[in-house]
Amino acid sequence: MSSQKSMHLCAFLCAGPVSHSHAIWRNPAHETGFLRGDFYVELARTLERGKFDFVFLADRLAIADQYGNSSETGLRYGDQDATRLDPIPILGLMAAATKHLGLGATRSTTYGTPYSLAREMATLDHISGGRAAWNVVTSMNDSEAMNYSAARHLKHDERYDRADEFMEVTFKLWDSWEPDALVLDRANGIYADPTKVHYVNHVGKNFQVRGPLNIPSSPQQRPVIIQAGSSGRGKRFAARWSEVIFALQPTMARMKDFRNSIRAELADAGRPEDASKVLMAIMPFVGTSRSEAEEKRDLHDSLVVPQVGLSTLAAHSNSDFSSLALDATVSEIESTGSQGNMAALRSIAPGGSLTIAEAGRVYGSGVMCPRSVGTAKDVAEHLLSIIDDDAADGFVLSPAFLPDSFQDFVEHVVPILQKSGRLRREYGTETLRGRLAGHA
Ligand SMILES: Cc1cc2nc3c(=O)[nH]c(=O)nc-3n(C[C@H](O)[C@H](O)[C@H](O)COP(=O)(O)O)c2cc1C
Repeated sequence: MSSQKSMHLCAFLCAGPVSHSHAIWRNPAHETGFLRGDFYVELARTLERGKFDFVFLADRLAIADQYGNSSETGLRYGDQDATRLDPIPILGLMAAATKHLGLGATRSTTYGTPYSLAREMATLDHISGGRAAWNVVTSMNDSEAMNYSAARHLKHDERYDRADEFMEVTFKLWDSWEPDALVLDRANGIYADPTKVHYVNHVGKNFQVRGPLNIPSSPQQRPVIIQAGSSGRGKRFAARWSEVIFALQPTMARMKDFRNSIRAELADAGRPEDASKVLMAIMPFVGTSRSEAEEKRDLHDSLVVPQVGLSTLAAHSNSDFSSLALDATVSEIESTGSQGNMAALRSIAPGGSLTIAEAGRVYGSGVMCPRSVGTAKDVAEHLLSIIDDDAADGFVLSPAFLPDSFQDFVEHVVPILQKSGRLRREYGTETLRGRLAGHA
């Protein structure tokens, strides 16, 4: 391995028609099998062949119906929330089809419960031999709230306060079995040592949980913790709990600012500045020539229906801005949903002057995800320049087409990264946490 920093790779997926790209399912070359199990099995095998650290499945808990106070636009054109299969069963399939690939999923601390979450992640960690990861989200909008017996979404910072307690409880539950509590002495019929299994008796503002967990300690003891909030409160939460931080920053300058702000937050939290790996979202378009790559990008963008981007933007901002004219600007959108995404959106044009119409296209074509367009060598060099400029520890690769984008990347870009010594050629025997903490 080169002495230069190597990179971590994660594959971003939504188990539905779109991911960040809202054109994935419209690929003229072939259908996208997002409702089929074998589709995800094949994707997992491709990513493991490419020696990715892990695959990640994003999630949300409602269809989008903020834009125009209706689900019509999102359902008609297929927005990010039109369909989302539950990530955990899919990761179970992927676990069975692979040996090393890490397996990450989103779960909400606002609409989940600590005991159920602790069980899901401990199970996934056991059945995968220590490869589970959890993207901790506080969810985005009222539509999700209304599916969980609430009239409105919690206020922004209140969501994170609840999330802090949620983390405290789940950590107690994962620690409720000591690592050697399980005995499995078949000859003498001793299953476990009861003195090493403990009640947690948590009584807090939001949760009362007695425990213990009904699952022994898993290979990683707890899943790798991921976080993706980029607001001030979101970053403080990430600095306290996360081992991986996903970020979506449209420019190199914002990537670097974000990275440095995380370092400062980690220091404030009393943790080493590299205690959490920052992975930047990026959408690659790989061609045998630069012009072929540009053709792929242009084909992709020609399939984007701008209104569908507005439907997802309304879901992310938890606001109906459909009364704003298309030439109004994004700075007029009031968001009670994601603060980080809105800040990034306002940064795209000076003074937040991006128009609503432009925002629809930006969101529809990739939710502000920066792109890397060119030959495999161009893309490899571009990614390495971001690492070498200290703007990230790795990437959340967001596909334009599936499985094409990952197949192209694994077949053409990965060998170049491996040859340069900046990406592993083989997995070790470590858990996902071991891999992320160690030499990549
Ligand atoms: C790569 C990436 C993946 C994300 N995945 C999800 C997800 O699956 N579900 C979700 O509700 N939010 C997801 N988010 C949004 C964040 O979790 C977060 O809710 C949002 O950025 C708002 O947080 P903030 O207000 O603290 O900035 C993701 C963000 C990024 C950058």
